Amino acid sequence: MPAELNRALGLSRFGRETPSVAGIINPGSEGFQKLFFGQEEIAIPVHSMIEAACSAHPTADVFINFASFRSAAASSMSALKQPTIRVVAIIAEGVPESDTKQLIAYARANNKVLIGPATVGGIQAGAFKIGDTAGTIDNIIQCKLYRPGSVGFVSKSGGMSNELYNTIARVTDGIYEGIAIGGDVFPGSTLSDHVLRFNNMPQVKMMVVLGELGGRDEYSLVEALKDGKVHKPVVAWVSGTCARLFKSEVQFGHAGAKSGGELESAQAKNQALREAGAVVPTSYEAFETAIKETFEKLVEEGKIAPVPDVEPPQIPEDLKYAIKSGKVRAPTHIISTISDDRGLLTIGPRFGGAIDDAARYFKDACDRGLTPYEFVEGMKKKGIRVPGIGHRIKSRDNRDKRVQLLQQYAHTHFPSVKYMEYAVQVEAYTLSKANNLVLNVDGAIGSLFLDLLAGSGMFSKQEIDEIVEIGYLNGLFVLARSIGLIGHTFDQKRLKQPLYRHPWEDVLYTK
Ligand code: ACO
Repeated sequence: MPAELNRALGLSRFGRETPSVAGIINPGSEGFQKLFFGQEEIAIPVHSMIEAACSAHPTADVFINFASFRSAAASSMSALKQPTIRVVAIIAEGVPESDTKQLIAYARANNKVLIGPATVGGIQAGAFKIGDTAGTIDNIIQCKLYRPGSVGFVSKSGGMSNELYNTIARVTDGIYEGIAIGGDVFPGSTLSDHVLRFNNMPQVKMMVVLGELGGRDEYSLVEALKDGKVHKPVVAWVSGTCARLFKSEVQFGHAGAKSGGELESAQAKNQALREAGAVVPTSYEAFETAIKETFEKLVEEGKIAPVPDVEPPQIPEDLKYAIKSGKVRAPTHIISTISDDRGLLTIGPRFGGAIDDAARYFKDACDRGLTPYEFVEGMKKKGIRVPGIGHRIKSRDNRDKRVQLLQQYAHTHFPSVKYMEYAVQVEAYTLSKANNLVLNVDGAIGSLFLDLLAGSGMFSKQEIDEIVEIGYLNGLFVLARSIGLIGHTFDQKRLKQPLYRHPWEDVLYTK
Protein backbone atom coordinates (compact mmCIF):
# COMPACT_ATOMS: atom_id res chain seq x y z
CA MET A 1 0.00 0.00 0.00
CA PRO A 2 1.41 3.45 -0.84
CA ALA A 3 0.91 4.54 2.74
CA GLU A 4 3.48 1.97 3.73
CA LEU A 5 5.81 3.13 1.01
CA ASN A 6 5.53 6.71 2.16
CA ARG A 7 6.05 5.79 5.72
CA ALA A 8 9.30 4.21 4.68
CA LEU A 9 10.13 7.25 2.53
CA GLY A 10 9.08 9.73 5.16
CA LEU A 11 10.07 12.68 2.96
CA SER A 12 7.51 13.84 0.46
CA ARG A 13 4.75 16.20 1.35
CA PHE A 14 2.56 13.12 1.11
CA GLY A 15 4.69 11.20 3.59
CA ARG A 16 2.48 9.61 6.20
CA GLU A 17 3.24 9.25 9.85
CA THR A 18 0.02 7.36 10.48
CA PRO A 19 -1.70 4.72 8.36
CA SER A 20 -4.44 5.80 5.98
CA VAL A 21 -6.76 2.99 7.12
CA ALA A 22 -8.44 4.00 10.38
CA GLY A 23 -10.54 0.91 10.95
CA ILE A 24 -12.07 -2.19 9.41
CA ILE A 25 -15.75 -3.13 9.52
CA ASN A 26 -16.38 -6.86 9.57
CA PRO A 27 -19.92 -7.88 10.47
CA GLY A 28 -19.71 -10.48 13.20
CA SER A 29 -16.28 -9.69 14.53
CA GLU A 30 -14.62 -7.10 16.68
CA GLY A 31 -11.09 -6.61 17.97
CA PHE A 32 -7.95 -5.92 15.98
CA GLN A 33 -6.41 -6.92 12.67
CA LYS A 34 -2.61 -7.02 12.48
CA LEU A 35 -1.19 -5.41 9.34
CA PHE A 36 2.17 -4.16 8.15
CA PHE A 37 2.81 -0.43 7.97
CA GLY A 38 6.21 -0.24 6.30
CA GLN A 39 8.54 -2.37 8.37
CA GLU A 40 6.39 -2.19 11.48
CA GLU A 41 3.37 -4.27 12.38
CA ILE A 42 0.35 -2.40 13.65
CA ALA A 43 -3.07 -3.38 14.99
CA ILE A 44 -6.02 -1.80 13.16
CA PRO A 45 -9.34 -1.77 15.09
CA VAL A 46 -12.13 -3.99 13.76
CA HIS A 47 -15.76 -3.01 14.29
CA SER A 48 -18.89 -5.02 13.63
CA MET A 49 -21.12 -2.06 12.76
CA ILE A 50 -20.64 0.90 10.37
CA GLU A 51 -22.13 3.36 12.87
CA ALA A 52 -19.74 2.27 15.64
CA ALA A 53 -16.76 2.48 13.28
CA CYS A 54 -17.70 5.99 12.13
CA SER A 55 -18.12 7.30 15.65
CA ALA A 56 -14.83 5.72 16.71
CA HIS A 57 -13.00 7.28 13.71
CA PRO A 58 -14.68 10.60 12.97
CA THR A 59 -11.84 11.79 10.71
CA ALA A 60 -12.15 8.79 8.35
CA ASP A 61 -14.15 10.03 5.37
CA VAL A 62 -13.73 7.26 2.79
CA PHE A 63 -15.56 3.93 3.01
CA ILE A 64 -14.25 1.12 0.78
CA ASN A 65 -16.94 -1.51 0.51
CA PHE A 66 -15.78 -5.10 -0.09
CA ALA A 67 -19.21 -6.60 0.74
CA SER A 68 -20.65 -9.09 -1.72
CA PHE A 69 -23.05 -7.99 -4.46
CA ARG A 70 -25.93 -9.10 -2.21
CA SER A 71 -24.98 -6.80 0.66
CA ALA A 72 -23.08 -3.99 -1.05
CA ALA A 73 -26.08 -1.73 -1.73
CA ALA A 74 -27.51 -1.81 1.80
CA SER A 75 -24.13 -1.35 3.49
CA SER A 76 -23.15 1.42 1.05
CA MET A 77 -26.40 3.26 1.80
CA SER A 78 -25.70 2.97 5.56
CA ALA A 79 -22.21 4.35 4.93
CA LEU A 80 -23.47 7.23 2.77
CA LYS A 81 -25.85 8.15 5.60
CA GLN A 82 -23.00 8.62 8.05
CA PRO A 83 -22.28 12.35 8.32
CA THR A 84 -18.51 11.75 8.44
CA ILE A 85 -18.36 9.68 5.22
CA ARG A 86 -17.72 11.66 2.04
CA VAL A 87 -16.71 8.97 -0.48
CA VAL A 88 -17.96 5.39 -0.89
CA ALA A 89 -16.25 2.93 -3.25
CA ILE A 90 -18.11 -0.29 -4.10
CA ILE A 91 -15.89 -3.14 -5.27
CA ALA A 92 -18.48 -5.89 -5.91
CA GLU A 93 -19.64 -6.75 -9.38
CA GLY A 94 -23.31 -7.63 -9.92
CA VAL A 95 -24.98 -5.04 -7.66
CA PRO A 96 -28.60 -4.69 -8.92
CA GLU A 97 -28.89 -1.64 -11.17
CA SER A 98 -32.03 -0.35 -9.40
CA ASP A 99 -30.10 -0.32 -6.11
CA THR A 100 -27.19 1.51 -7.73
CA LYS A 101 -29.56 4.16 -9.07
CA GLN A 102 -30.88 4.78 -5.55
CA LEU A 103 -27.34 5.09 -4.23
CA ILE A 104 -26.42 7.54 -6.99
CA ALA A 105 -29.51 9.65 -6.28
CA TYR A 106 -28.77 9.70 -2.55
CA ALA A 107 -25.09 10.52 -3.09
CA ARG A 108 -25.90 13.38 -5.50
CA ALA A 109 -28.58 14.83 -3.21
CA ASN A 110 -26.17 14.77 -0.28
CA ASN A 111 -23.06 15.96 -2.08
CA LYS A 112 -21.19 12.69 -1.65
CA VAL A 113 -19.02 10.75 -4.11
CA LEU A 114 -19.74 7.20 -5.19
CA ILE A 115 -17.02 5.20 -6.99
CA GLY A 116 -18.14 1.94 -8.62
CA PRO A 117 -19.83 -0.51 -8.36
CA ALA A 118 -17.59 -3.09 -10.00
CA THR A 119 -14.45 -1.09 -9.45
CA VAL A 120 -10.88 -1.77 -8.40
CA GLY A 121 -10.95 1.68 -6.79
CA GLY A 122 -8.39 4.41 -7.17
CA ILE A 123 -5.06 5.74 -6.03
CA GLN A 124 -3.54 9.07 -5.17
CA ALA A 125 0.07 8.27 -5.88
CA GLY A 126 2.23 8.26 -2.80
CA ALA A 127 -0.66 9.02 -0.51
CA PHE A 128 -3.66 6.80 -0.45
CA LYS A 129 -5.15 3.79 -2.18
CA ILE A 130 -8.80 2.78 -2.42
CA GLY A 131 -9.39 -0.91 -3.13
CA ASP A 132 -7.27 -3.35 -5.11
CA THR A 133 -6.07 -0.92 -7.74
CA ALA A 134 -2.44 -1.02 -8.92
CA GLY A 135 -1.91 -4.52 -7.57
CA THR A 136 1.13 -5.65 -5.65
CA ILE A 137 3.87 -3.54 -4.05
CA ASP A 138 6.21 -4.57 -6.90
CA ASN A 139 3.73 -3.23 -9.41
CA ILE A 140 3.21 -0.02 -7.44
CA ILE A 141 6.97 0.56 -7.47
CA GLN A 142 7.28 -0.27 -11.18
CA CYS A 143 4.48 2.16 -12.01
CA LYS A 144 6.10 4.91 -9.89
CA LEU A 145 2.97 5.14 -7.79
CA TYR A 146 4.98 5.69 -4.61
CA ARG A 147 5.22 9.41 -5.39
CA PRO A 148 2.89 11.82 -7.20
CA GLY A 149 3.38 12.74 -10.85
CA SER A 150 1.46 15.17 -13.04
CA VAL A 151 -1.15 12.99 -14.77
CA GLY A 152 -4.79 12.52 -13.77
CA PHE A 153 -6.13 9.23 -15.08
CA VAL A 154 -9.66 7.86 -15.22
CA SER A 155 -10.88 4.65 -16.75
CA LYS A 156 -13.88 2.36 -16.68
CA SER A 157 -11.89 -0.82 -16.53
CA GLY A 158 -9.92 -1.93 -13.48
CA GLY A 159 -7.65 -4.34 -15.31
CA MET A 160 -6.85 -1.80 -18.03
CA SER A 161 -6.17 0.90 -15.45
CA ASN A 162 -3.31 -1.24 -14.15
CA GLU A 163 -2.01 -1.50 -17.70
CA LEU A 164 -2.26 2.27 -18.15
CA TYR A 165 -0.51 3.01 -14.85
CA ASN A 166 2.41 1.20 -16.35
CA THR A 167 2.19 2.94 -19.72
CA ILE A 168 1.86 6.38 -18.12
CA ALA A 169 4.82 5.71 -15.83
CA ARG A 170 6.97 4.82 -18.86
CA VAL A 171 6.26 7.96 -20.91
CA THR A 172 5.49 10.70 -18.37
CA ASP A 173 6.53 11.67 -14.85
CA GLY A 174 3.70 9.46 -13.55
CA ILE A 175 0.23 9.52 -12.08
CA TYR A 176 -1.03 12.11 -9.64
CA GLU A 177 -4.36 10.37 -9.21
CA GLY A 178 -5.98 7.40 -10.94
CA ILE A 179 -9.58 6.25 -10.68
CA ALA A 180 -11.44 3.27 -12.16
CA ILE A 181 -15.12 4.19 -12.18
CA GLY A 182 -16.25 0.59 -12.71
CA GLY A 183 -17.69 -1.40 -15.55
CA ASP A 184 -21.40 -1.30 -14.69
CA VAL A 185 -24.06 0.33 -16.85
CA PHE A 186 -24.71 2.93 -14.14
CA PRO A 187 -21.44 4.00 -12.52
CA GLY A 188 -21.73 6.03 -9.32
CA SER A 189 -19.45 8.70 -10.77
CA THR A 190 -18.66 9.27 -14.43
CA LEU A 191 -15.53 9.83 -16.52
CA SER A 192 -16.37 13.52 -16.88
CA ASP A 193 -16.99 13.91 -13.10
CA HIS A 194 -13.36 12.93 -12.53
CA VAL A 195 -11.94 14.86 -15.48
CA LEU A 196 -13.63 18.01 -14.14
CA ARG A 197 -12.27 17.26 -10.69
CA PHE A 198 -8.74 16.83 -12.11
CA ASN A 199 -9.20 20.05 -14.04
CA ASN A 200 -9.43 21.87 -10.71
CA MET A 201 -6.40 20.17 -9.16
CA PRO A 202 -3.29 22.33 -9.63
CA GLN A 203 -1.00 19.30 -9.35
CA VAL A 204 -2.66 17.62 -12.36
CA LYS A 205 -1.29 19.02 -15.63
CA MET A 206 -2.86 16.63 -18.16
CA MET A 207 -5.56 13.96 -18.16
CA VAL A 208 -5.66 10.48 -19.65
CA VAL A 209 -9.08 8.87 -20.18
CA LEU A 210 -9.81 5.28 -21.15
CA GLY A 211 -13.44 4.68 -22.01
CA GLU A 212 -15.08 1.69 -23.58
CA LEU A 213 -17.90 0.87 -25.93
CA GLY A 214 -21.44 0.81 -24.53
CA GLY A 215 -23.32 3.58 -22.76
CA ARG A 216 -23.10 7.32 -23.43
CA ASP A 217 -20.87 8.37 -20.54
CA GLU A 218 -18.12 9.63 -22.87
CA TYR A 219 -20.54 12.14 -24.39
CA SER A 220 -20.78 14.11 -21.13
CA LEU A 221 -17.02 14.51 -21.45
CA VAL A 222 -17.49 15.60 -25.07
CA GLU A 223 -19.98 18.23 -23.85
CA ALA A 224 -17.63 19.43 -21.11
CA LEU A 225 -14.83 19.80 -23.67
CA LYS A 226 -17.07 21.63 -26.14
CA ASP A 227 -18.33 23.96 -23.39
CA GLY A 228 -14.73 24.91 -22.60
CA LYS A 229 -14.97 23.56 -19.07
CA VAL A 230 -11.72 21.58 -19.40
CA HIS A 231 -8.55 23.67 -19.60
CA LYS A 232 -5.91 20.96 -19.57
CA PRO A 233 -5.04 18.53 -22.38
CA VAL A 234 -7.07 15.31 -22.44
CA VAL A 235 -5.65 12.22 -24.17
CA ALA A 236 -8.47 9.73 -24.65
CA TRP A 237 -9.16 6.35 -26.15
CA VAL A 238 -12.41 4.39 -26.19
CA SER A 239 -11.69 0.68 -26.42
CA GLY A 240 -13.85 -1.92 -28.14
CA THR A 241 -13.36 -0.90 -31.77
CA CYS A 242 -13.17 -4.61 -32.59
CA ALA A 243 -16.89 -4.97 -31.86
CA ARG A 244 -17.65 -4.03 -35.48
CA LEU A 245 -15.89 -7.18 -36.64
CA PHE A 246 -18.62 -9.29 -35.04
CA LYS A 247 -21.84 -9.90 -36.95
CA SER A 248 -24.10 -9.80 -33.87
CA GLU A 249 -24.19 -7.65 -30.71
CA VAL A 250 -21.36 -8.54 -28.31
CA GLN A 251 -21.41 -8.33 -24.51
CA PHE A 252 -17.83 -7.82 -23.31
CA GLY A 253 -16.60 -8.55 -19.76
CA HIS A 254 -18.19 -5.55 -18.06
CA ALA A 255 -21.94 -5.25 -17.69
CA GLY A 256 -21.81 -1.83 -19.36
CA ALA A 257 -19.53 -2.91 -22.23
CA LYS A 258 -22.10 -3.89 -24.82
CA SER A 259 -22.05 -2.90 -28.45
CA GLY A 260 -25.44 -1.21 -28.63
CA GLY A 261 -26.43 1.40 -31.24
CA GLU A 262 -23.99 3.34 -33.42
CA LEU A 263 -23.65 6.19 -30.90
CA GLU A 264 -22.44 3.72 -28.28
CA SER A 265 -19.74 2.28 -30.52
CA ALA A 266 -16.09 2.91 -29.70
CA GLN A 267 -15.55 4.46 -33.15
CA ALA A 268 -18.34 7.03 -32.71
CA LYS A 269 -17.19 7.99 -29.22
CA ASN A 270 -13.55 8.30 -30.33
CA GLN A 271 -14.62 10.52 -33.22
CA ALA A 272 -16.79 12.73 -30.96
CA LEU A 273 -13.96 13.14 -28.46
CA ARG A 274 -11.51 14.00 -31.24
CA GLU A 275 -13.88 16.62 -32.65
CA ALA A 276 -14.36 18.11 -29.18
CA GLY A 277 -10.61 18.71 -28.86
CA ALA A 278 -9.27 15.65 -27.05
CA VAL A 279 -6.08 14.01 -28.33
CA VAL A 280 -7.40 10.70 -29.68
CA PRO A 281 -5.00 8.25 -31.35
CA THR A 282 -5.94 6.05 -34.28
CA SER A 283 -5.60 2.83 -32.32
CA TYR A 284 -4.91 1.58 -28.80
CA GLU A 285 -1.32 0.85 -29.87
CA ALA A 286 -0.82 4.56 -30.61
CA PHE A 287 -2.25 5.60 -27.22
CA GLU A 288 1.16 5.46 -25.53
CA THR A 289 2.74 7.72 -28.15
CA ALA A 290 -0.15 10.19 -27.86
CA ILE A 291 0.33 10.36 -24.09
CA LYS A 292 4.10 10.73 -24.51
CA GLU A 293 3.86 13.51 -27.09
CA THR A 294 1.27 15.44 -25.07
CA PHE A 295 3.44 15.23 -21.97
CA GLU A 296 6.62 16.27 -23.81
CA LYS A 297 4.83 19.22 -25.40
CA LEU A 298 3.72 20.42 -21.96
CA VAL A 299 7.29 20.09 -20.70
CA GLU A 300 8.58 22.06 -23.70
CA GLU A 301 5.99 24.77 -23.11
CA GLY A 302 7.14 24.96 -19.51
CA LYS A 303 3.72 23.88 -18.23
CA ILE A 304 5.15 20.79 -16.55
CA ALA A 305 8.31 20.68 -14.51
CA PRO A 306 8.69 16.88 -14.38
CA VAL A 307 8.54 15.56 -10.84
CA PRO A 308 12.04 14.37 -9.94
CA ASP A 309 12.40 10.68 -9.32
CA VAL A 310 13.08 9.48 -5.82
CA GLU A 311 14.54 6.17 -4.79
CA PRO A 312 11.60 3.85 -4.06
CA PRO A 313 11.66 2.52 -0.53
CA GLN A 314 12.64 -1.06 0.10
CA ILE A 315 9.67 -3.06 1.29
CA PRO A 316 10.76 -6.25 2.99
CA GLU A 317 9.31 -9.51 1.74
CA ASP A 318 6.87 -11.32 4.04
CA LEU A 319 8.55 -14.20 5.83
CA LYS A 320 5.89 -16.66 4.71
CA TYR A 321 6.56 -15.94 1.01
CA ALA A 322 10.31 -15.72 1.46
CA ILE A 323 10.35 -19.19 3.09
CA LYS A 324 8.10 -20.56 0.35
CA SER A 325 10.37 -19.23 -2.39
CA GLY A 326 13.41 -20.77 -0.68
CA LYS A 327 15.13 -17.40 -0.07
CA VAL A 328 15.29 -17.68 3.71
CA ARG A 329 14.85 -20.30 6.38
CA ALA A 330 13.65 -19.90 9.94
CA PRO A 331 14.29 -22.17 12.93
CA THR A 332 11.37 -23.82 14.71
CA HIS A 333 11.05 -23.21 18.44
CA ILE A 334 10.28 -26.59 19.93
CA ILE A 335 10.78 -30.25 19.12
CA SER A 336 7.70 -32.46 19.31
CA THR A 337 7.39 -36.14 18.55
CA ILE A 338 3.74 -36.54 19.44
CA SER A 339 1.67 -34.17 17.31
CA ASP A 340 1.73 -30.99 15.26
CA ASP A 341 -1.03 -29.52 17.40
CA ARG A 342 -1.26 -25.78 16.86
CA GLY A 343 -3.62 -23.67 18.98
CA LEU A 344 -2.97 -25.99 21.90
CA LEU A 345 -4.29 -23.70 24.61
CA THR A 346 -6.97 -21.83 22.76
CA ILE A 347 -10.56 -22.83 23.32
CA GLY A 348 -13.06 -20.24 22.26
CA PRO A 349 -15.63 -19.48 19.63
CA ARG A 350 -12.92 -18.40 17.21
CA PHE A 351 -10.12 -20.96 17.70
CA GLY A 352 -11.54 -24.47 17.62
CA GLY A 353 -14.68 -24.34 19.65
CA ALA A 354 -17.74 -23.08 17.83
CA ILE A 355 -19.69 -26.09 19.09
CA ASP A 356 -21.50 -24.23 21.86
CA ASP A 357 -22.49 -21.31 19.70
CA ALA A 358 -23.48 -23.54 16.79
CA ALA A 359 -25.70 -25.63 19.10
CA ARG A 360 -27.20 -22.50 20.68
CA TYR A 361 -28.11 -20.78 17.41
CA PHE A 362 -29.21 -23.92 15.52
CA LYS A 363 -31.45 -24.95 18.45
CA ASP A 364 -33.02 -21.54 18.79
CA ALA A 365 -33.70 -21.22 15.05
CA CYS A 366 -34.97 -24.79 14.62
CA ASP A 367 -37.22 -24.61 17.72
CA ARG A 368 -38.67 -21.31 16.52
CA GLY A 369 -39.42 -22.87 13.12
CA LEU A 370 -37.30 -20.35 11.18
CA THR A 371 -36.57 -21.24 7.58
CA PRO A 372 -32.83 -21.39 6.79
CA TYR A 373 -33.28 -18.16 4.83
CA GLU A 374 -34.91 -16.40 7.82
CA PHE A 375 -32.25 -17.74 10.17
CA VAL A 376 -29.16 -16.87 8.08
CA GLU A 377 -30.44 -13.48 6.94
CA GLY A 378 -31.62 -12.65 10.49
CA MET A 379 -28.12 -13.42 11.78
CA LYS A 380 -26.61 -11.29 9.03
CA LYS A 381 -28.79 -8.35 10.07
CA LYS A 382 -27.46 -8.72 13.60
CA GLY A 383 -23.92 -8.81 12.22
CA ILE A 384 -23.27 -12.38 13.38
CA ARG A 385 -21.69 -15.06 11.17
CA VAL A 386 -23.48 -18.38 11.65
CA PRO A 387 -21.22 -20.43 13.95
CA GLY A 388 -20.54 -23.92 12.59
CA ILE A 389 -20.76 -22.74 8.98
CA GLY A 390 -17.74 -22.02 6.80
CA HIS A 391 -14.26 -23.45 6.33
CA ARG A 392 -11.00 -22.08 5.01
CA ILE A 393 -10.15 -25.17 2.98
CA LYS A 394 -13.18 -27.44 2.90
CA SER A 395 -15.89 -26.72 0.36
CA ARG A 396 -18.89 -28.14 -1.49
CA ASP A 397 -16.53 -30.21 -3.66
CA ASN A 398 -14.01 -31.05 -0.97
CA ARG A 399 -16.11 -32.20 1.95
CA ASP A 400 -14.80 -32.69 5.47
CA LYS A 401 -14.59 -36.46 5.97
CA ARG A 402 -15.14 -36.06 9.71
CA VAL A 403 -18.49 -34.38 9.11
CA GLN A 404 -19.53 -37.10 6.68
CA LEU A 405 -18.57 -39.89 9.10
CA LEU A 406 -20.40 -38.24 12.00
CA GLN A 407 -23.50 -37.75 9.90
CA GLN A 408 -23.46 -41.37 8.66
CA TYR A 409 -23.04 -42.62 12.22
CA ALA A 410 -25.90 -40.45 13.48
CA HIS A 411 -28.22 -41.56 10.69
CA THR A 412 -27.69 -45.19 11.66
CA HIS A 413 -27.62 -44.91 15.43
CA PHE A 414 -29.49 -41.82 16.62
CA PRO A 415 -33.22 -42.00 17.25
CA SER A 416 -33.67 -38.59 15.64
CA VAL A 417 -31.47 -36.33 13.55
CA LYS A 418 -33.84 -33.37 13.49
CA TYR A 419 -31.25 -30.74 14.40
CA MET A 420 -28.60 -32.18 12.12
CA GLU A 421 -31.06 -32.11 9.23
CA TYR A 422 -31.85 -28.52 10.04
CA ALA A 423 -28.13 -27.68 9.99
CA VAL A 424 -27.83 -29.41 6.60
CA GLN A 425 -30.70 -27.27 5.26
CA VAL A 426 -28.93 -24.17 6.56
CA GLU A 427 -25.79 -25.36 4.78
CA ALA A 428 -27.73 -25.77 1.52
CA TYR A 429 -28.72 -22.11 1.77
CA THR A 430 -25.27 -20.78 2.71
CA LEU A 431 -23.71 -22.83 -0.11
CA SER A 432 -25.86 -20.85 -2.52
CA LYS A 433 -23.76 -17.82 -1.45
CA ALA A 434 -20.26 -19.30 -1.47
CA ASN A 435 -18.66 -22.69 -2.05
CA ASN A 436 -16.82 -22.78 1.26
CA LEU A 437 -19.84 -22.04 3.47
CA VAL A 438 -20.16 -25.71 4.38
CA LEU A 439 -21.33 -27.15 7.68
CA ASN A 440 -18.01 -27.54 9.47
CA VAL A 441 -17.06 -30.11 12.07
CA ASP A 442 -18.03 -27.82 14.97
CA GLY A 443 -21.44 -27.20 13.42
CA ALA A 444 -21.89 -30.94 12.85
CA ILE A 445 -20.94 -31.83 16.45
CA GLY A 446 -23.09 -28.99 17.84
CA SER A 447 -26.21 -30.06 15.95
CA LEU A 448 -25.59 -33.76 16.66
CA PHE A 449 -25.22 -33.08 20.37
CA LEU A 450 -28.64 -31.46 20.28
CA ASP A 451 -30.01 -34.63 18.66
CA LEU A 452 -28.21 -36.76 21.23
CA LEU A 453 -29.56 -34.76 24.17
CA ALA A 454 -33.10 -34.60 22.78
CA GLY A 455 -33.19 -38.16 21.46
CA SER A 456 -31.69 -39.97 24.47
CA GLY A 457 -34.75 -39.30 26.62
CA MET A 458 -32.47 -38.74 29.59
CA PHE A 459 -32.76 -34.95 29.82
CA SER A 460 -35.72 -32.70 30.41
CA LYS A 461 -36.28 -29.83 28.01
CA GLN A 462 -35.18 -27.47 30.77
CA GLU A 463 -31.93 -29.37 31.30
CA ILE A 464 -31.16 -29.35 27.58
CA ASP A 465 -31.81 -25.61 27.43
CA GLU A 466 -29.49 -25.09 30.39
CA ILE A 467 -26.68 -27.21 28.92
CA VAL A 468 -26.86 -25.28 25.67
CA GLU A 469 -27.25 -21.88 27.29
CA ILE A 470 -24.36 -22.27 29.74
CA GLY A 471 -22.12 -23.63 27.01
CA TYR A 472 -20.95 -27.08 28.17
CA LEU A 473 -20.14 -28.51 24.81
CA ASN A 474 -16.81 -26.76 24.25
CA GLY A 475 -15.74 -28.82 27.27
CA LEU A 476 -14.98 -31.51 24.69
CA PHE A 477 -12.00 -29.42 23.65
CA VAL A 478 -10.77 -29.24 27.24
CA LEU A 479 -10.75 -33.03 27.29
CA ALA A 480 -8.84 -33.38 24.04
CA ARG A 481 -6.38 -30.61 24.85
CA SER A 482 -5.69 -31.89 28.37
CA ILE A 483 -4.60 -35.20 26.89
CA GLY A 484 -2.42 -33.27 24.44
CA LEU A 485 -0.86 -31.19 27.21
CA ILE A 486 -0.03 -34.26 29.27
CA GLY A 487 1.52 -35.77 26.14
CA HIS A 488 3.60 -32.66 25.49
CA THR A 489 4.82 -32.58 29.11
CA PHE A 490 6.09 -36.17 28.83
CA ASP A 491 7.53 -35.46 25.39
CA GLN A 492 9.51 -32.46 26.68
CA LYS A 493 10.95 -34.50 29.53
CA ARG A 494 11.80 -37.48 27.37
CA LEU A 495 13.56 -35.27 24.79
CA LYS A 496 15.37 -33.33 27.56
CA GLN A 497 14.22 -30.01 26.13
CA PRO A 498 15.27 -26.74 27.78
CA LEU A 499 12.90 -24.10 29.10
CA TYR A 500 10.67 -22.80 26.30
CA ARG A 501 10.91 -19.09 25.66
CA HIS A 502 8.37 -17.70 23.24
CA PRO A 503 10.11 -15.56 20.59
CA TRP A 504 9.75 -11.84 21.28
CA GLU A 505 9.15 -10.92 17.67
CA ASP A 506 6.07 -13.12 17.74
CA VAL A 507 4.16 -10.76 20.04
CA LEU A 508 2.71 -7.47 18.85
CA TYR A 509 2.92 -5.28 21.94
CA THR A 510 0.53 -2.30 21.67
CA LYS A 511 -0.24 0.26 24.31
N1 ACO B 1 -22.60 -18.20 7.99
C1 ACO B 1 -23.48 -17.67 7.11
N2 ACO B 1 -23.14 -16.84 6.13
C2 ACO B 1 -21.85 -16.51 6.05
C3 ACO B 1 -20.86 -17.03 6.92
C4 ACO B 1 -21.29 -17.91 7.93
N3 ACO B 1 -20.45 -18.45 8.78
N4 ACO B 1 -19.66 -16.54 6.56
C5 ACO B 1 -19.88 -15.72 5.49
N5 ACO B 1 -21.19 -15.71 5.21
C6 ACO B 1 -21.87 -14.97 4.14
C7 ACO B 1 -21.74 -13.48 4.30
O1 ACO B 1 -22.69 -12.98 5.24
C8 ACO B 1 -22.02 -13.02 2.89
O2 ACO B 1 -23.44 -12.96 2.72
P1 ACO B 1 -24.05 -11.94 1.67
O3 ACO B 1 -23.38 -12.19 0.36
O4 ACO B 1 -25.49 -12.23 1.67
O5 ACO B 1 -23.69 -10.58 2.22
C9 ACO B 1 -21.51 -14.18 2.01
O6 ACO B 1 -21.24 -15.25 2.91
C10 ACO B 1 -20.30 -13.87 1.18
O7 ACO B 1 -19.23 -13.35 2.00
P2 ACO B 1 -18.34 -12.10 1.64
O8 ACO B 1 -16.97 -12.43 2.09
O9 ACO B 1 -18.95 -10.85 2.17
O10 ACO B 1 -18.43 -11.92 0.06
P3 ACO B 1 -17.51 -12.47 -1.09
O11 ACO B 1 -16.66 -13.59 -0.66
O12 ACO B 1 -18.41 -12.69 -2.27
O13 ACO B 1 -16.53 -11.23 -1.38
C11 ACO B 1 -16.04 -9.40 -2.89
C12 ACO B 1 -17.04 -10.03 -1.90
C13 ACO B 1 -14.77 -8.97 -2.16
C14 ACO B 1 -16.68 -8.16 -3.51
C15 ACO B 1 -15.68 -10.46 -3.95
O14 ACO B 1 -16.85 -10.98 -4.50
C16 ACO B 1 -14.82 -9.90 -5.06
O15 ACO B 1 -13.68 -9.60 -4.89
N6 ACO B 1 -15.38 -9.79 -6.25
C17 ACO B 1 -14.68 -9.28 -7.40
C18 ACO B 1 -15.07 -7.85 -7.61
C19 ACO B 1 -14.16 -7.17 -8.61
O16 ACO B 1 -13.30 -7.76 -9.19
N7 ACO B 1 -14.40 -5.86 -8.78
C20 ACO B 1 -13.62 -5.09 -9.66
C21 ACO B 1 -14.14 -5.17 -11.02
S1 ACO B 1 -12.96 -4.37 -12.05
C22 ACO B 1 -13.69 -3.60 -13.32
O17 ACO B 1 -13.05 -3.03 -14.01
C23 ACO B 1 -15.08 -3.62 -13.65
